[in-house]
Amino acid sequence: MIQSFPCCGRTLRYADLSAAAHAAGRDIRDYPYVIRVLLENLLRHRAWGAAVTAEEIGRLWAWREHPGADLPLHVARVIMPDSSGLPVLQDLAALRDAVAQAGGDAARVDTRIPVDLIVDHSLQVDYWGDTGAVQRNLRREFERNDERYRFLKWAQQAFKGLRVITPGIGIIHQVNLEYLAPVVARQSRPDAEWAYPDFVIGGDSHTPMINALGVLGWGVGGIDAEAALLGHAYTFPIPEVVGVRLHGAITAPALTTDAALLITQRLRGEGVVGCMVEFFGPAAETLSVPERATIANMAPEYGATCGFFPIDERTLDYARMTGRDAEQLALIEAYARSNSLWRAAGETAPAYSRVIEIDLSAARPSMAGPRRPQDRMDVAEVAADFRRRLTMSLPDGGFGVDGTARPPSREVLGHGSVALAAITSCTNTSNPSVMLAAGLVAQKALARGLTPPAWVKRSLAPGSRAVTRYLESAGLLQALQAQGFHVIGYGCTTCGGKSGPLDTAAADAITQGGLVAAAVLSGNRNFEGRIHKLLRANYIGSPAMVVLYALAGRIDLDFEHEPLGPGADGAPVYLRDVWPSQEEIAALLPLAAAPGLFADVYDPASLDSTIWRDLKAPSGLRFPWDPQSQYLVEPPFFKTEPGRDALADLEASLTRGRVLAAFGDSLTTDHISPSGEIPADTPAGMYLIGNGVAPRDFNTYVARRCNHHVMTRATFANIRIKNALVPGVEGGVTCHFPSGQRMAVVDAAEAYRAAGDASVILGGKDYGMGSSRDWAAKGSALLGVRAVIAESFERIHRANLVGMGVLPLAFAPGEGWRQLGLTGAETLRFGNVANGVLKGEPIDVVAEDGARRIRFLVHAQVLTRAERKLMAEGGIPASVLNGFLNDTEAADAAHC
Ligand code: F3S
Repeated sequence: MIQSFPCCGRTLRYADLSAAAHAAGRDIRDYPYVIRVLLENLLRHRAWGAAVTAEEIGRLWAWREHPGADLPLHVARVIMPDSSGLPVLQDLAALRDAVAQAGGDAARVDTRIPVDLIVDHSLQVDYWGDTGAVQRNLRREFERNDERYRFLKWAQQAFKGLRVITPGIGIIHQVNLEYLAPVVARQSRPDAEWAYPDFVIGGDSHTPMINALGVLGWGVGGIDAEAALLGHAYTFPIPEVVGVRLHGAITAPALTTDAALLITQRLRGEGVVGCMVEFFGPAAETLSVPERATIANMAPEYGATCGFFPIDERTLDYARMTGRDAEQLALIEAYARSNSLWRAAGETAPAYSRVIEIDLSAARPSMAGPRRPQDRMDVAEVAADFRRRLTMSLPDGGFGVDGTARPPSREVLGHGSVALAAITSCTNTSNPSVMLAAGLVAQKALARGLTPPAWVKRSLAPGSRAVTRYLESAGLLQALQAQGFHVIGYGCTTCGGKSGPLDTAAADAITQGGLVAAAVLSGNRNFEGRIHKLLRANYIGSPAMVVLYALAGRIDLDFEHEPLGPGADGAPVYLRDVWPSQEEIAALLPLAAAPGLFADVYDPASLDSTIWRDLKAPSGLRFPWDPQSQYLVEPPFFKTEPGRDALADLEASLTRGRVLAAFGDSLTTDHISPSGEIPADTPAGMYLIGNGVAPRDFNTYVARRCNHHVMTRATFANIRIKNALVPGVEGGVTCHFPSGQRMAVVDAAEAYRAAGDASVILGGKDYGMGSSRDWAAKGSALLGVRAVIAESFERIHRANLVGMGVLPLAFAPGEGWRQLGLTGAETLRFGNVANGVLKGEPIDVVAEDGARRIRFLVHAQVLTRAERKLMAEGGIPASVLNGFLNDTEAADAAHC
């Protein structure tokens, strides 16, 4: 089953899928490509000596009969943005200290597989509206993040497998697509040189974008990434694989973003949460890789682990276009063809769990909002939907304002005024056709003398410098600038909540008038409180739509019947006057594939900025922590407690629990652990002030993730979080029992800890949806939360809770805390916890409040053997440390 193939003047070894299938009495052509990649991973690592059993491989051959069975995977590489990556590296630094303090060899704590850390999540739009904004924002980013970046520079020399893509280069997933991903990897081993599929996990939920390039990958919490980069097997349950047959063509005036929003809405409706989606069919074959990337990027929004497009001619076209060298191109093709990983045009589809048909010609110009990416509407419906929601109550999804509200206009702000228009997010900035369309709208509007109202904050944050180059060659950068869309930096901005301050007059008008103002962005997330604290209505659309709404200055414009505004000649200008044709876009596309463009942009000499080179950083194996630092505080996760039985400890603590907070459906990780601005009047803000940090220097929660004192106080403290224990209140407040006192969540947690009670969280459906954010789990653990009971969990957050030793529990189907009549005032007594975790037996809960007694059953959401082991050890930090101290780590990682 181990074969060789010739490539580039040498012979490469590989685990032959077709031969393995034959030996197993199967036909590899029946298998979805994602299952083929997983099979290859098990077969090769078994050949390399990893702990992979024949039974595990056998179960994967019969994958549809064993949903949820453990797969011990070994990923080829890990990518991380600075936001989740810095805490991982901080943990490694602390782990080195812990190993050294216990008498071990700190040098053994190192990365075992290639790790790329891309600094893209710390950019904020402080400056905008002129060509100097890009440099000024970058300088401000370095000022704000000085300590973090010095730490990162230390890490760059301290961990041998780590490569850092420095600030100002681009957005993680776009850089991965354009530059980092080899598609097929190679490794020299003692016996031979091997070839194998690139396979990546990333500390960011939109990692699945790389599936557009035929590279299997998905987002994980930093906690999982940490274990994987240390060489541990990454355990993943055998997935359901849903085939999505795409047919029809995206037809003008719709753009790829509209198709992605349509797919998101359809797949959300079909229910693909936790599944792997594989695209096939005539339209899937013809889509370019950038178009596939826009669709693959939104996998978290449709709830899937990934949306995969197998390797084919389009993959090669893109690899060629982005400057992968001839040898790599030859390797990709030769390997994929030799090992049944190449999809030929028109081939028969493999056997999927189920098939969903989507007609791309049904895509229409769309917007999704005002709060969720799956709430897509045709553009024609947006105005009426907004007006309807304006007076609807909050619980019904409205904004709850009175019906006599003043309508907005291009002259005066009112409800529905667009105060923020951001061309942002790797979802779209990696796709030249939608970026060129935005430039063309800007250019056509300019020609008619139409520009946006001054109060609309505008920004253009490309995901790589290639975008600026082709927009410039097309003469469209100038048009965008003339419309106020100047490049403000290369990184995640509005999409990740780093919008920066609004125009001052707009902010004042919104605050004083209590206005429901809007943001339009070409991102993929629009949850409440994420985009900007003053903006309650947030809409996602294509970059061209972002320019249009900026021009209109209001969200409730009926584009069909109302003009965007008057042109220079006083005549009304309509959407149809400025919308580009497909031919116009297609004529410019070759500029985005200009020879040498990507080689130039990713020339190693241009990847290292002077400002980074000049940064002074410590060196050496162990990091010298500064006790005064409010950015980098040694984390408390790696404390040795010899002989501790974590499960017995959990069971004992859950004999008396208290409800710390109770939530409805769709609580996001952003609600649990916010990422944006730190308000001065919150416990986190007050902690910083108490430690001498002025509010102007707070930076964001993301930037303070390496300070657990701040992050613990921020947990369950999003300004928009609604805790049912304090109805009608938004923010990190709860009711403490039995006192009945209203107080900050962190204070209530402290009071329960002091009383010897375990904190428990009650949730609804899809608990922990949204971005992968390990601080949502770390913060919960540090608050003393020992269990979360919800109706259902989002995949990454559930795994992260287990990774931190917090027990995720599901109510019985059809039950929930509301249906059971729990009020939160009860004490909770859990029975049979250890058997519930280890054997999947029901866990018995008795809730008592005076004479009121409610008894119900819950099930531990600890899904794999590896997760059960983690719960028994108390989570990943304890497990990893034990591995180093007991010397099991070296054996574990030998096969990497
Ligand atoms: Fe992409 Fe950054 Fe948004 S990674 S999805 S632009 S936060």
